[in-house]
Amino acid sequence: MTTEAKQQYSPGLAGVIAGETSICWVDPNAGLMYRGYDIHDMGNKATFEEVAFLLLNGELPNAKQFKEFREQIAAERTLPKQVEQMMQLLPKNTHPMDALRTGVSMLSAFDKDLGDNSHDANIRKSIKLIARVETLITDGWRIGKGEKPLPEKPELSQAANFFYKLDGKVPEDWKTRMMDTIFNLYADHEFNASTFAARVTASTLAGIYAAVTSACGTLKGPLHGGANEESMKMLEEIKTPDRTEAWLKKQLAAKAKIMGFGHRVYKKGDSRVPAMREIARDLGKRAGKENWVAICEKLEELMDKEKGLCANVDLYAAPVFWMLGFEPELNTPLFAASRVAGWCAHVTEQHDNNRLIRPRSLYVGPQLRKYPGPPR
Ligand code: COA
Repeated sequence: MTTEAKQQYSPGLAGVIAGETSICWVDPNAGLMYRGYDIHDMGNKATFEEVAFLLLNGELPNAKQFKEFREQIAAERTLPKQVEQMMQLLPKNTHPMDALRTGVSMLSAFDKDLGDNSHDANIRKSIKLIARVETLITDGWRIGKGEKPLPEKPELSQAANFFYKLDGKVPEDWKTRMMDTIFNLYADHEFNASTFAARVTASTLAGIYAAVTSACGTLKGPLHGGANEESMKMLEEIKTPDRTEAWLKKQLAAKAKIMGFGHRVYKKGDSRVPAMREIARDLGKRAGKENWVAICEKLEELMDKEKGLCANVDLYAAPVFWMLGFEPELNTPLFAASRVAGWCAHVTEQHDNNRLIRPRSLYVGPQLRKYPGPPR
């Protein structure tokens, strides 16, 4: 057997450039831009559909393109009957991220463009996926609670539709604006774990549904998208700002990971935190529930002092979703309803200029040894 010189490697691929992209840039110094536009300028002004169009097509839409794109998404929201029936077969305690992953996988069988990885087919399928990922979440949630899905209201934007399809109430404009901003903050983040999983799957020339199924499975983990669900559990456990310090000290002494803190790329703060913190403060005032933000701020101060670690977007997303009326199990699906735009843009970019993603590993197992013969 030949041997190879041991190569250098980076655990967790930290710092490794694994591909090129023109979709998104994460600046380690707390910046984020989509196709050259700074999220800080655009996040609380643009609608999610504008941002999704930008991610998919490379440019912002003009008024006609925007109207068409919005209408195309709204027209694709209804799930095939069989997919709805499948959701009814899932056990009632199925996590909405598992239901979503299963639903996306099943949707593939209903798309006539399934085997077509061309740019145009991928954009068509992306529009369907953006529309239907949201429906899988909202209708899946109602079905899980023993309720019927609500009739579509195609005049609603994706942000407003998310509220409406859960409880039947069309939200006030300020809530829709807030949801657009939240969706914009979550829409893409270059080679994060779920997007990378989607690109690896796409690089085998598996289709966009397979890639988004991989991404949904990857997003659920608590070190990635699942952190926003775990953060809310943590805040509920802490309960009041005055209990924060004692709680944190105990956790750190036990070497526990504190959800909503740390990031692989950002070391001086997460670019999305200031906007999410502002939304949390605004909601806290409106709802008379300012204790959640106070706990988060105390955690930020103490984590900086004790560990030199900054908060990430999921810390403030947790109380934001809670105060908007969503149960913690919906936190990661909310993230998915937005990130699906980024996943689809990345899969399209991967297919447009594909090379199989297949790294090497460093073998650390036993040296070559002789097979001793069948078991005796
Ligand atoms: N709580 C406590 N300690 C943390 C921490 C956290 N949230 N995040 C990182 N650390 C510590 C690590 O224990 C490690 O300490 P050590 O050097 O003494 O072992 C050090 O900081 C470096 O962390 P590391 O695990 O190497 O960072 P990473 O880049 O591999 O991981 C995350 C990044 C995001 C997975 C990690 O910060 C984490 O688990 N955060 C909590 C989950 C979360 O909020 N995820 C959402 C990300 S947007």
